[in-house]
Amino acid sequence: MAAKASNAKAPSALGQAYKIVEHEYDVLVIGAGGAGLRATFGLAEKGLRTACVTKVFPTRSHTVAAQGGISAALGNMGEDDWRWHMYDTVKGSDWLGDQDAIEYMCREAIPAIIELEHFGVPFTRTPEGKIYQRPFGGMTTNYGEGTAQRTCAAADRTGHAMLHTLYQQSLKHRAEFFIEYVALDLIMDDDGSCLGATAWDLDDGTIHRFRAQMTIIATGGYGRAYFSCTGAHTQTGDGNAMVLRAGLPLQDMEFVQFHPTGIYGAGMLITEGSRGEGGYLTNSEGERFMERYAPSAKDLASRDVVSRAMTMEIREGRGVGPEKDHIHLHLEHLDPELIHERLPGISETSRIFAGVDVTTEPIPVLPTCHYNMGGIPALHTGEVVTLKGKDPSSVVPGMMAIGEGACVSVHGANRLGSNSLLDLVVFGRSAAARCVEILTPGERQKPLSNGNGEAGLARLDDFRHASGDIPTAALRLEMQKVMQNHCAVFREAVTLKEGTKALKEAWTKRPDISVTDRSMIWNTDLVETLELDNLMYQSQVTLNGALNRQESRGAHAREDFPDRDDTNWMKHTLAWCSEKGAVTFGYRPVSLTPMTNEVQAFPPKIRVY
Ligand code: FUM
Repeated sequence: MAAKASNAKAPSALGQAYKIVEHEYDVLVIGAGGAGLRATFGLAEKGLRTACVTKVFPTRSHTVAAQGGISAALGNMGEDDWRWHMYDTVKGSDWLGDQDAIEYMCREAIPAIIELEHFGVPFTRTPEGKIYQRPFGGMTTNYGEGTAQRTCAAADRTGHAMLHTLYQQSLKHRAEFFIEYVALDLIMDDDGSCLGATAWDLDDGTIHRFRAQMTIIATGGYGRAYFSCTGAHTQTGDGNAMVLRAGLPLQDMEFVQFHPTGIYGAGMLITEGSRGEGGYLTNSEGERFMERYAPSAKDLASRDVVSRAMTMEIREGRGVGPEKDHIHLHLEHLDPELIHERLPGISETSRIFAGVDVTTEPIPVLPTCHYNMGGIPALHTGEVVTLKGKDPSSVVPGMMAIGEGACVSVHGANRLGSNSLLDLVVFGRSAAARCVEILTPGERQKPLSNGNGEAGLARLDDFRHASGDIPTAALRLEMQKVMQNHCAVFREAVTLKEGTKALKEAWTKRPDISVTDRSMIWNTDLVETLELDNLMYQSQVTLNGALNRQESRGAHAREDFPDRDDTNWMKHTLAWCSEKGAVTFGYRPVSLTPMTNEVQAFPPKIRVY
């Protein structure tokens, strides 16, 4: 981008001006959430020199906010089988998930969670001392017949418990952390391989060049592209944007999950576990309306189904409150002891952010942006894939992606609750294992060519000196409102087209942005501007992807194309975004074949709950 009144210099002069500090590692991990930390200690444990670069202190990564739990067919609370888990996940994905990867995740869930227990995660216990497991949406026994209790929980603070344990393990194995370093861009070689990344140390203002045999992108989702979101302010999908700027595509970005129960007006998450423990939703007539939309699973249908039902109730005039614009979630009928023991976090959140005592009154809730099913296309090993010629699974050398920023694709068009924490640990673990397999500790780095080791520096410098008229916060709000109003629970061509126009207008204002602080030390204005720019790239591919996909599937509900169209659209979207914001598309096939013969394929069928 060409910022107004920029004093950007030629790259080599810039490199000198910013005095780049050099680092060489076997592996660079960007991001210290659940996936990043699970990979980091898995690598360090096996003797690979590993650097983990993170823009926030590791235990402040957004995984810390995950509440309800992590799924695995442990069978602690009744019969269970990883194949049933796999079936639920394929169905939840509305048959856009890759069955080979889903098999891997559901099978590996069991050892991955036993490991977590041994690493020290303080799970809630059953009276016999086993890991406590609660029901969650879309999780069934015997291929849809009964309700599974599959979600392993540490009260309603499971992410917090996990993240602290994973960080402790990383320290134990002497991984090296670069904390409060903002990753700028990937260092890409002329041959298309990734050689590392550049980063900015907020504390002393220096720029760092990390060269590594493998760069693992674990930077999370981009929920903050939306106005109302359960995610932290730091959820800006930085790695996704770096991938787009590197000329590579993102996959299935049109699939954005709205969690049914964000606190009305505030957006904080009220865990699905609250419905798993017996909570239910009502409209203004006091009706448990989910019985009409999902007669069998009711309040525990999958999230896309519940969010759509809530939106329909509100649209048809049955919302609660003076403006009839939200829904009630009831926990008052539950034993206060149970609430105290298993749902302490959301009791506190409801008191602080909604002024509600959950033991006596309902919580006002509204579907809120929660999760991105799309992201960097990756194999179950973490290796990033792209479309080269006709080869839909050509690997990008030196690059891996894991966690919410990746699209493996195990969640397809809609993720089941508690499969996210699982995705983090299973694929963090498999990426580490793959690195151990293919890398040699201490191997020499590939030489840098053509000044490409200064990736992102010109962009940083441009924004640092941007002296236009639009404050970052104003442009961010404009973008977030466009996304919220044009690309949320329900979509249709007219509003999506309006949205693409409005987003284009916002995009053209980037050169007119105003950054008031010129300093390199803790310049949060500049950090937020870089993050906004990252969000802009991702909003472009999301909104244009939603307009492009002419069917309804999972979380992508087109009012003008209400049916799933397996003939034309059972395929993954790949989307590229140019420097000018122009989006182009390609496609990869969905894998309908499991990885092993331990399970049969689940052929597409109509999805009802
Ligand atoms: O509702 C929740 O506790 C969220 C869980 C998830 O998104 O997996």
